[in-house]
Amino acid sequence: MKKIPVIMDVDTGIDDAVALILAMSSPHIDLKGVTVVAGNQILDKTIYNTLSVVDYFGGGDIPVAKGASKPLVKELYYDAATHGESGLGTAQLPKPAITAHRLDAVDFIKETLENSEEKVTLVPVGPLTNIALLLMCYPHIKEKIDKIVMMGGGAFEGNMNAVCEFNMFVDPEAAQVVFDSGVDIVMCGLDITMKSYTTMEDILRIKATGTKAGEFCAEAFGVYYDRYVNNSRLPGCAVHDAVAVTYLLHPEWIHTERANVKVDIDGTETYGQTVCDMRPNRNRHLDNATVCMDIDREKFIDLLVAACESYK
Ligand code: BDR
Ligand code: CA
Repeated sequence: MKKIPVIMDVDTGIDDAVALILAMSSPHIDLKGVTVVAGNQILDKTIYNTLSVVDYFGGGDIPVAKGASKPLVKELYYDAATHGESGLGTAQLPKPAITAHRLDAVDFIKETLENSEEKVTLVPVGPLTNIALLLMCYPHIKEKIDKIVMMGGGAFEGNMNAVCEFNMFVDPEAAQVVFDSGVDIVMCGLDITMKSYTTMEDILRIKATGTKAGEFCAEAFGVYYDRYVNNSRLPGCAVHDAVAVTYLLHPEWIHTERANVKVDIDGTETYGQTVCDMRPNRNRHLDNATVCMDIDREKFIDLLVAACESYK
């Protein structure tokens, strides 16, 4: 398998950290950089967490660039209740020895794409602020984007309210820019990520790898797991962001549908909803996204366990 050139955009975050660990463990991903946005926590914390995760799990030479500290229009809403005060639950990592890149996230992505001979896949797993700014400031860069494989939205459910998912809720205007950009989009929304849950048995398997990645993930999942089990219908915690990385590596495990996806930014009850038209008789010329609907959960968990094991 040829290495896939990738830039991830994260708001680290517990499941963002797992997604980074998965990407950095894979010999099939060429992680050209990681850009950071505010979301699960304020930017100072998401950049610190990202530098810590990238440094500790072996990617010390992967550039990490700091991006937007607030959404395009709304004030920042962050989620300490799910991800903890630090953003990584109760997990602790050593102080990072690396620092943020000299360029900010938008200019870092622009420069990296301009200097790349091949097209690059963007994998944003937080609010889409950085990616929207990139597309608005440098529209010519679209030619260098292979596709955007993102975590966010949902065709049939929300997690902030009945219809709106967290990353869309934090920055709906940015999401609208991205979905209307004409770039090919793969949406890993709640339809698939709520099927990617990790049970206590799975967490014990991850811990039993005995590696620093296994120890970290198991500790980080602690409070996050409790919150899911107490507040959702799942028998475990959803590892949302790792699903976007899994799509890159194993699209054959994932069931998808083409759709026309629009982000509502005018509604009162539907502000931030990803409105997905999948009707067989829709105008298919308007399709702008591949929407991920289902995953082979057992294989997904095996992949996470193998990723942790690889840190031996
Ligand atoms: C998304 O919101 C955050 O809590 C997670 O990191 C994920 O990106 C799930 O709705
Ligand atoms: Ca995230």
